[in-house]
Amino acid sequence: MPTPRRDILVTSALPYANGQIHLGHLLEYIQTDIWVRFQKSRGHQCTYVCASDAHGTAIMLKAQSEGVTPEALIEQVKAEHERDFAAFGVDFDHFHSTHSEENRVLSEMIYERCRDGGAIKRTVIQQLFDTEKGLFLADRYVKGECPKCKAADQYGDNCEVCSATYEAYDLINPVSTLSGSVPELRDSEHLFFDLPQFQDFLKDWTTSGRLQPQISNKLAEWLDSGLMPWDISRDAPYFGFEIPDAPGKYFYVWLDAPIGYLASFKAYCDSTGMDFDAYWKADSDAEVYHFIGKDIVNFHCLFWPAMLDKAGLRTPTAVNVHGFVTVNGAKMSKSRGTFIQASTFLQHLNPECLRYYYASKLNSRVEDTDLNLEDFVQKVNSDLVGKVVNIASRSAGFIAKRFDGQLGSVDANPELSARFIAAQSRIAELYEQREFSAAVREIMALADAANAWIAEVQPWVIAKQDGQDARLQATCATALNYFRWLMIYLQPIAPGLAARSAEFLKVDGFRWSDAEHALHDHQISKFKPLLQRVEMDQVNAMLEAGKPPVEAVAAEKPATAPLSAECTIDDFAKIDMRVARIDLAEQVDGAKKLLKLTLDDGSGTPRTVFSGIRAHYAPADLNGRLCVLLANLKPRQMKFGLSEGMVLAAGEGDQVFLLDVDSQVKPGTRVS
Ligand code: MSP
Ligand code: ZN
Repeated sequence: MPTPRRDILVTSALPYANGQIHLGHLLEYIQTDIWVRFQKSRGHQCTYVCASDAHGTAIMLKAQSEGVTPEALIEQVKAEHERDFAAFGVDFDHFHSTHSEENRVLSEMIYERCRDGGAIKRTVIQQLFDTEKGLFLADRYVKGECPKCKAADQYGDNCEVCSATYEAYDLINPVSTLSGSVPELRDSEHLFFDLPQFQDFLKDWTTSGRLQPQISNKLAEWLDSGLMPWDISRDAPYFGFEIPDAPGKYFYVWLDAPIGYLASFKAYCDSTGMDFDAYWKADSDAEVYHFIGKDIVNFHCLFWPAMLDKAGLRTPTAVNVHGFVTVNGAKMSKSRGTFIQASTFLQHLNPECLRYYYASKLNSRVEDTDLNLEDFVQKVNSDLVGKVVNIASRSAGFIAKRFDGQLGSVDANPELSARFIAAQSRIAELYEQREFSAAVREIMALADAANAWIAEVQPWVIAKQDGQDARLQATCATALNYFRWLMIYLQPIAPGLAARSAEFLKVDGFRWSDAEHALHDHQISKFKPLLQRVEMDQVNAMLEAGKPPVEAVAAEKPATAPLSAECTIDDFAKIDMRVARIDLAEQVDGAKKLLKLTLDDGSGTPRTVFSGIRAHYAPADLNGRLCVLLANLKPRQMKFGLSEGMVLAAGEGDQVFLLDVDSQVKPGTRVS
């Protein structure tokens, strides 16, 4: 049954124009692109727009340090991003820039409507100012000692050691990370979007079925703890749009970034004649979906709907949030080579394999996705090459050589053919719900059934029997139809493979409705290899290529930190360090940096320690490992539970390593 035609606008988050696209980003763009291709193959009017997020201090400073204008920098990065996206088959209808006339006009309009509606307030705030660089410092450009636990080298918003949050000017001995100078506290008037006004509106909006349950629950917590006005202005110098009625002040990058979705769509409408207002008027019937990562939920599910509503525009139909990519169980890391850029991947591997792997792992929940590189190689080879392409390569030769490329009749197995047709609506529903991994499982189950049938009828045996030509032709033609059905269903995930397959089958692409009938009495072309196997060597070469050169790693850090003040052997004796065994390492929900370790310290009672090593170790790799425990450290109550001691590690930043102990040492042994 044909579904009525829908008008759908889809966006992915706008990538910052100051860095390269990496495999983390690609999870989002691939997820979105698969959903869009599915909608298009169903015949809906679906438009996919995106843009460079081109404003902000980081881009301004990067341009300065490269000795180019911000305009030149963002142009260059935009071109690189577009090239990477195209290579991975991410097919935007339009890719714009937030530094554009459309975005300026729309940002001013939305700001003015919010202001005239009484949602903008002005307040004088105090902020640290770098007198050498001549600019106010965002929190991440200030470092100092934590006002609470006195830990050194903490950023201006929160302490990585004790998790305290504070204002940058509360840091002890603050230093600007831009110039190394001591900043001074200055007054400045800022404009605020008065978010607390929207408390009731947002309570409704966030529970109206537009968000995944995990997200609306998180937002309910934020809403219950009270909203704060949102600072939407930044002082010059800033790369962005000057605020119309506040000379020398600029819109904060996050104010005009989501408006960039509208700007990109506006530019697209202007060039195609599509009706912008039909999509964005308050009572629009069109559907609008944002795909984003879990780190930017507050911007999309609080500020954004509130601003749109105040400006008299419609709000999104849904915001679809995904988790983060980890590689081999741990956060992507430059030194391990797992911080993989799109361009590095492309030099070693086929981008479509990544699309397939991500699809095979993605669902509609907000879960992190692990790119396990061995599993990746195994899955691509066994599924795409071994199951899907194999059906075509086993059957195509006979059709070409013996039957002049003619498919003839295709009813060698009516029961299985009926199953392929019947699967259509279920697979469609799974795509629609963003349950891609379940869709892939359904598709592979069909591939398994087709392969099992081919193995049973053995066309290569029939081929040797006299008088069996019709049976051979029908068997191979039926098998090729199974291959075709698989490609119809896989086309949103593997568009390149689908295009090559369409050429081989001499059909004009694959639409979803093509699945309703078989392809018979049809002439196909000669078979050419459709997809190469992937080898672990290619993956290893990619990891090597992605590692920064040894000199660069060394240059990142000053040689060694200066020694601390002298201590006596009695001072040292106060510290009781023991060897312990990690019996269990687990991730902690809601704690980005922590792993929960359950230790055997020889006492017979398990001991719990929360350790800030989540980014550096996969829990599974720690189980059973010996470590050194600071055993008489005063226990500390943390948000997630009581931490009874500390596990010793060396290093900082990207390079943190647990101390190791020879395997013969028994847990509980004192270290002295
Ligand atoms: N510029 C903002 C978005 C503005 S939208 C109006 C931004 N840019 S970003 O380049 O940092 O990230 C773009 C998207 O990629 C975000 O949705 C982000 O969550 C996602 N990802 C970035 N790193 C990621 C992973 N490692 N894993 C999965 N997604 C990740 O945020
Ligand atoms: Zn602290």
